[in-house]
Amino acid sequence: MPTPPDTSKTLKLERYNSYLRKIHSTKLINASSKLLFRATLLAALLLILFFTITYPPLSDNPHHRLHRHSLLSTSLFSVGGGAAWEKQVRRSSTPRRPNGLSVLVTGAAGFVGSHCSLALKKRGDGVVGLDNFNDYYDPSLKRARQNLLKKHQVFIVEGDLNDAPLLSKLFYVAPFTHVLHLAAQAGVRYAMQNPQSYIRSNIAGFVNLLEIAKAANPQPAIVWASSSSVYGLNTENPFSEIDRTDKPASLYAATKKAGEEIAHTYNHIYGLSLTGLRFFTVYGPWGRPDMAYFFFTKDILQGKSIEIYKTHDQKEVARDFTYIDDVVKGCLGAVDTAEKSTGSGGKKKGPAQLRVYNLGNTSPVPVGRLVWILEGLLETKAKKHVITMPRNGDVPFTHANVTLAHKDFGYKPTTDLATGLRKFVKWYVGYYGIQPRTKKETQPTDESG
Ligand SMILES: NC(=O)c1ccc[n+]([C@@H]2O[C@H](COP(=O)([O-])OP(=O)(O)OC[C@H]3O[C@@H](n4cnc5c(N)ncnc54)[C@H](O)[C@@H]3O)[C@@H](O)[C@H]2O)c1
Ligand SMILES: *[C@@H]1O[C@H](CO)[C@@H](O)[C@H](O)[C@H]1NC(C)=O
Repeated sequence: MPTPPDTSKTLKLERYNSYLRKIHSTKLINASSKLLFRATLLAALLLILFFTITYPPLSDNPHHRLHRHSLLSTSLFSVGGGAAWEKQVRRSSTPRRPNGLSVLVTGAAGFVGSHCSLALKKRGDGVVGLDNFNDYYDPSLKRARQNLLKKHQVFIVEGDLNDAPLLSKLFYVAPFTHVLHLAAQAGVRYAMQNPQSYIRSNIAGFVNLLEIAKAANPQPAIVWASSSSVYGLNTENPFSEIDRTDKPASLYAATKKAGEEIAHTYNHIYGLSLTGLRFFTVYGPWGRPDMAYFFFTKDILQGKSIEIYKTHDQKEVARDFTYIDDVVKGCLGAVDTAEKSTGSGGKKKGPAQLRVYNLGNTSPVPVGRLVWILEGLLETKAKKHVITMPRNGDVPFTHANVTLAHKDFGYKPTTDLATGLRKFVKWYVGYYGIQPRTKKETQPTDESG
């Protein structure tokens, strides 16, 4: 479109005005950019000051090589806690023996986690726990375990597996050589009530932990709890690691099986050293209130009737009950034989170890016999109510073949059910302050520490 070449005065004046406006705004921009520059400089100085205060010189420790990611994503928001918190983490994670390990134990306020943490600490390894203290069962029991660990200088960080900034901060503060990953949503029946909790902890939480571990420098070796439930509807007997595990009977079992496949992937892609342990009905002092031996004890003492399952073809249900001390030995054996992860900078550098082991007791016991032993120990007759097991994810029979664990790290269960239950009952009556009914021998219980 042609514009007429107008050279009128009004146009000239307008041009002049706009010229003035331009000069004016340029001045403004100059002034404000100076201000902006100064502010940025100040902010940068403050940031540098902040980092210097929050973190000691990185060169203190050769392991303290951190990828930028976690530095930026964590420290800015002071994830986890302040300097005192970091000091606790550092102190708790430092081994007290030459060549000692530094282990992050997830689920440390849990049954197996608390026992393993104590065992590692007692032999001189550094241990830091992680637990979210959820209320799947009475959290006061988790707090009591935490207090016990605190007495032995084991610090438990309160947090969730899914908290990536917290986890990367932990790995930044303490260069863990190993992770003993025991945190999970446990229990078979609860999955029908709260299926999402299994996905969150056992799948999403596990993946989050593996993501942090693969990015850490150095990458830790990981030993983690799978479950005998992966054998599911398998009818081979006893269960061996070479058997198929593709018929889970519960969502719990399916998430553990998924964990084993996910472990394979992270081993394959990132060179993480991974060992899965399939536990078989672990029991003992400080045990889990949601498990039969525990609530049978409670109900028998309270005179309540207990439900005993029989199978659909009228057979007795049997479990390969494994005493906690045997399981702890197995866990430490697996940790001690775990090879280093091979990746670095989040990249695989060579093949890494990938293992799966049964940790069971190799002798299934019918639930009827479990109750009979408890009746004797509690000196009380149980009110038994025998019912056909509902389809709630429980499997009627478990039996471990532990040949592989024995060959690779000398795993050998030594505690029979009667012996183990005696220790459990002793702890139970002490912990819950239950008065002996008509006891002949009154022994002082002074070993509760
Ligand atoms: N006890 C057994 O008989 C048995 C059998 C087979 C497998 N397992 C497995 O062994 C491991 C330990 O079992 P346990 O008997 O000590 O159970 P537990 O429930 O006593 O311990 C698990 C701990 O993990 C914590 N936790 C759960 N989800 C978490 C999350 N998202 N973030 C942080 N912490 C979380 C819980 O608060 C709990 O203290 C679990 O992985 C379990 O599935 C146990
Ligand atoms: C136990 O497992 C091993 C492999 O770990 C196998 O060679 C052996 O045959 C198994 N024993 C039984 C009785 O299944």
